[in-house]
Amino acid sequence: AVPVLKKQLSLFVSFNLFLVGNSHFIFQLKQDNVVEHISAARGIINFKVNRKLLAQKLLEPFGNGENDKFGLNSELFNTLTTGTTLVEYSSPNIAKKFHAGHLRSTIIGNFIANLKQSLGNDVIRMNYLGDWGMQFGLLGAGFGQFGSPEKLKQNPLQHLFEVMLYSKLFVFFAFQVYVRVNKEAENNEDMKQAARDFFRQLEQHESHVVSLWQQFRDITVKEYQDIYERLGVHFDVYSGESFHQDQAQEVVQQLQSRGLLKTSEKGTGVVDLSPNRDMTNVCTVLRSDGTTLYITRDIAAAINRKEKYSFDEMIYVTDKSQENHFSQLFQILLAMGHSWADGCRHVSFGLVQGMKTRAGEVVFLEDVLDEARARMLNNMSQSNTTKELENPEDTAEKVGISALIIQDFKGPLQSDYKFNWDRMLQAQGDTGVFLQYTHARLCRSEISSIDTFSFWILYPLIYSTCTAILQHLLRYDEVLYQSAQDLQPKHLVNFLLKLCHLIASAHRELPVKGSPEAVAQARLRLFSGACSVLANGMRILGITPVNKM
Ligand code: ARG
Repeated sequence: AVPVLKKQLSLFVSFNLFLVGNSHFIFQLKQDNVVEHISAARGIINFKVNRKLLAQKLLEPFGNGENDKFGLNSELFNTLTTGTTLVEYSSPNIAKKFHAGHLRSTIIGNFIANLKQSLGNDVIRMNYLGDWGMQFGLLGAGFGQFGSPEKLKQNPLQHLFEVMLYSKLFVFFAFQVYVRVNKEAENNEDMKQAARDFFRQLEQHESHVVSLWQQFRDITVKEYQDIYERLGVHFDVYSGESFHQDQAQEVVQQLQSRGLLKTSEKGTGVVDLSPNRDMTNVCTVLRSDGTTLYITRDIAAAINRKEKYSFDEMIYVTDKSQENHFSQLFQILLAMGHSWADGCRHVSFGLVQGMKTRAGEVVFLEDVLDEARARMLNNMSQSNTTKELENPEDTAEKVGISALIIQDFKGPLQSDYKFNWDRMLQAQGDTGVFLQYTHARLCRSEISSIDTFSFWILYPLIYSTCTAILQHLLRYDEVLYQSAQDLQPKHLVNFLLKLCHLIASAHRELPVKGSPEAVAQARLRLFSGACSVLANGMRILGITPVNKM
């Protein structure tokens, strides 16, 4: 209904302005049931929209139990890519710390996937783990020395990280004392050799080595899944660099047979990406010892995904330090004749500065989530409604996470920002807490006591505060469209924050309690519509709306 109303409006305006433009003297604008009044002032034409119709058209879907579909079948979306969208996000590295960049990738990717899904695309959510490379040699060798199977069971992420840290320190330390103590120098070499051996055995698929690696990977994934669940994030596929080890060698052959593989002075295999083919801009795809690199595995992975999922678009989400990597990836794919690479996009984002918890520097994602929950719980303990909550921890967790998300999504993704616990958790400012608070308040306003839908009941909604909300709701599809085009959540975030400010004024100016029945019912209807749109928008952002807080 909303697009119809909008179309009528815009047709009306353009058609009539056309008349004005052509008839020089005669003022010919005609009123109709959409634009109910037209007046002219000096140099201005005022159009007054039929407010009852506006209220009716807008709020009708909510009366028909189609709350989830509001704004989603707009003609605006026709120009967007349809079909299958593969979104690759989060993609942490096993046995390395999960940094703020991975958190950003996780929530941004989740938002993009949610958005595409609500616009009707088939979405594949993929996590591409950093689960291959020489570091696994060190991890495997180090585990023999510093690892403990019990600790690995109890706290896998932590333990693998520790083992990795010890192994590196060990190699480093032994190297330091090399000159003085020969014994350590041997140790150092032993360890390095053990790492090389482990990795070589892994590459040759030797079963006992593969099974240890598999164990590291499985428990890491399981651990991450628990944390993703807290965040409300899930993946359809856990893939990783390891999957494309053999295919990466095939890629090298293909590059060779297409005449794209050049040998550099250092003996590495490169692809020349410079416009004049003068080797001024090259991308290394093969080490001199014949092993492949991160980019080689990415080329293989992209080709493999296209074959497997025949996506119409693929979106990668990482921080901006990888911009060049992805630009090279897409260029090489195109040079190899894969024209579908035009449908690949890299969404990049800036750095987060100062993400710290009370305990100090953040090493694991879990620390951030725990801290957000603890701080929120502390803030909530001052309010009375907290005592009525069945599970205050759970509510604090959800609200804390919305605070993290909104802080992150408010500005352009490209910008760096300073992480600030106090600012993001404020109940009043433009925060996730404010969104949740508004949602919970709307839920309290006896929305369940609304009569069945009837048109006359909307008559009391013609006052300006109501119209402001209705007009704002009318923009929902445009905002989703903007976000779908540039894949930036800020449009939707700012729309929802504005909506919450409008609702705050409406709560002051349009009381439900104590108003005549018809007026109360109409207002409840408006609040219920606003509540649905707010909840829908929050879900797209990856936020779980709470009903009480
Ligand atoms: N694991 C990588 C990192 O932590 C991110 C992977 C991004 N995706 C890709 N296809 N390269 O930096």
